[in-house]
Amino acid sequence: MPLLLGIDIGTSGTKVVIINENGDVLGSALGAYTLHTPHPNWAEQDPEDWWKATAAAIRKACESGRVDPAQIGAVGLSGQMHGLVLLDENNEVLRPAILWCDQRTAAECRWITEAVGEKRLRELTCNLALTGFTAPKVIWVRDHEPRIYDRIRKILLPKDYIRFRLTGEYTTEVSDASGTLLFDVKNRGWSKAVIDILGIREEWLPRCYESPEVAGRVTRQASRETGLREGTPVVGGGGDQAAGAVGSGVVKPEVMSVTIGTSGVVFAHVQQPVLDPEGRLHTFCHAVPGEWHVMGVTLGAGGSMRWFRDALCQTEVAVGHCAGMDPYDLITAEAEQAEPGCEGLVFLPYVAGERTPYPDPNARGVFFGLSLRHTKAHLARAVMEGVAFSLRDCLELVRDLGVSATQVRISGGGARSRLWRRIIADVFGIPLVTVNVTEGPAYGAALLAGVGTGVYESVVDACEKTIKPASTTQPDPLDAERYEGYYDLYRSLYPKLKSGFDKAASLIVRRR
Ligand code: XUL
Repeated sequence: MPLLLGIDIGTSGTKVVIINENGDVLGSALGAYTLHTPHPNWAEQDPEDWWKATAAAIRKACESGRVDPAQIGAVGLSGQMHGLVLLDENNEVLRPAILWCDQRTAAECRWITEAVGEKRLRELTCNLALTGFTAPKVIWVRDHEPRIYDRIRKILLPKDYIRFRLTGEYTTEVSDASGTLLFDVKNRGWSKAVIDILGIREEWLPRCYESPEVAGRVTRQASRETGLREGTPVVGGGGDQAAGAVGSGVVKPEVMSVTIGTSGVVFAHVQQPVLDPEGRLHTFCHAVPGEWHVMGVTLGAGGSMRWFRDALCQTEVAVGHCAGMDPYDLITAEAEQAEPGCEGLVFLPYVAGERTPYPDPNARGVFFGLSLRHTKAHLARAVMEGVAFSLRDCLELVRDLGVSATQVRISGGGARSRLWRRIIADVFGIPLVTVNVTEGPAYGAALLAGVGTGVYESVVDACEKTIKPASTTQPDPLDAERYEGYYDLYRSLYPKLKSGFDKAASLIVRRR
């Protein structure tokens, strides 16, 4: 039986996994690259770094599993969503990719909202103009780098740039295209109306497929660089959230997921493109053909914890290094010493601005309620609790839409922490289920490759054959009740601080 290979172009690195049709992981590899922040609020990467890391990781994954690359029957792609890659007429990358977490485009979002009209924008794309999305980035290039804008011949998303390097095709698929703000999410095709109003040329956009459809084949050149067989089919795949949902079996009604990666996401499968009345949730196409999903995004989830580790935990990093331990395990062991609610210390995790429920690039992280009694243990636990409160904000909006779930699955790097799972189960007041698969979006992309090449009958069939519940974290009724009060306090803070965030942003700009 041919094997399936999934690739995830993440924010900190590329992950490659190889599975067989039973879903067993035979090989995997990671390739790291750097995130560049040349100015406050900017986040960029070099697409060439993605390609180098991917080609090397494909070879490494094959070596790690003693897999002959010729045995790989199909490839699926997944990746960080919303990033802007621009190509010129010679297919050269015109400037560094502008990423999902880049916050430079507040003015461009206002311009788009005015040009299209907020109500019409929602009718056409199901979403609001948010700084993370792709279209505002194109408008930013138009307004700030007109010489580059004049040379644009193709616009691609991160994983679709890697597809271009693998197959020579300019193609994408519906789940990732949904996050561009140029896509008619209800009808699953580019929105001619929005594209025209924004002055974007239709021929710049890649051809769009459903996620499991074959969208290209490995070229001779890519075969030389990766070892994959020339002609290997590459399916559409999915944005990392949709592919991650496939990789944890969130592909039918009544199953929801919470993911803690750099960002944190509450994701719910829906059979119709339902909209939050105020546009606080994203409504995107799912990687399941003909179905959709809604999601809320906390921009700084694992990102808040990484900031905490890097800024305040040099000792844990050093000890972890010497003892061969993960510093996060040391930090969470400390956090466990503090009691739920951290004696009144509340963290707002807006270290990278925020999306849901406050689409606000100026929002910033806050420790509220610090006292002389607080220790590093309280600070660490407060960070974990603050992320859980922010995810609860997302969950409440999904519930308000009438979307229910009999099961909530938790995944992502943060879900490895037993304490963080406990905190989220308590803050949500519902049990959380982990699954046997921990490879995330890369695994989902491999399953989509199997669907597109007939290994599985459908996405649901692929998930049923490979993904099983592994453990359940039950909420503790007493802690859940205690957290209700803290969640109320948490929710009251942002509205009171909003004008302060705006003032701080204006002061920073003035100083530069
Ligand atoms: C989703 C989003 C992030 C990125 C990076 O809308 O912006 O989850 O895809 O992982």
